[in-house]
Amino acid sequence: MSELKDGHWLTQAVETEPKRVVYSEETIARRVLEIADEITNFYPPDEGLLVLGLLKGSFIFLSDLVRAINRPLHVDFIVASSYGAGTTTSGNVKLLYDPMAPIEGRHVLLVEDIVDSGNTINRLAEALGHRRPASLEICALLHKHLATDLSLVPRWVGFDAPPEFLVGYGLDHAEDFRHLPFVASL
Ligand code: PRP
Repeated sequence: MSELKDGHWLTQAVETEPKRVVYSEETIARRVLEIADEITNFYPPDEGLLVLGLLKGSFIFLSDLVRAINRPLHVDFIVASSYGAGTTTSGNVKLLYDPMAPIEGRHVLLVEDIVDSGNTINRLAEALGHRRPASLEICALLHKHLATDLSLVPRWVGFDAPPEFLVGYGLDHAEDFRHLPFVASL
């Protein structure tokens, strides 16, 4: 077990450990407030907004973000997975849980932790688009800008991320490191 930063001890008995803090807790907090402000001002105040968190990776980002958005909204979740225990996408995005909330006629904001290959966004944009939302936008904390064929470009991006495997603030490696309050590279 080793200490990465400021007394944050990492998971015991993991072969791979984060090496470098890429976005600190403070940097992320500042950016989340900026994005939340933009989202607050973007949607008509009297029209329904459904914030859809893509689990598991977005759970910390989503909870910080919605608390900083200053307008009525509903929260639901969607679960998809493609990485399993590896560091590269399988390309096969499985929809494991569908939102209970109705989509048709509502503004839907899909919250992602990271856009990497873009497979997840493309799969979900297709699935959600068929349900005729009033609008469909994506807010991603991190965007690697590697995907060349995104069917829906994220309207809000926290950070243009380096092409490294990133963990923390919800992002995992084989389920480790999601709890770190900052983003680090392996
Ligand atoms: C990761 C991440 C994104 C997606 C991005 O999810 O959380 O949702 O992959 O990758 P892509 O752009 O290449 O599709 P993962 O499948 O690891 O599930 P998780 O959210 O439960 O960690």
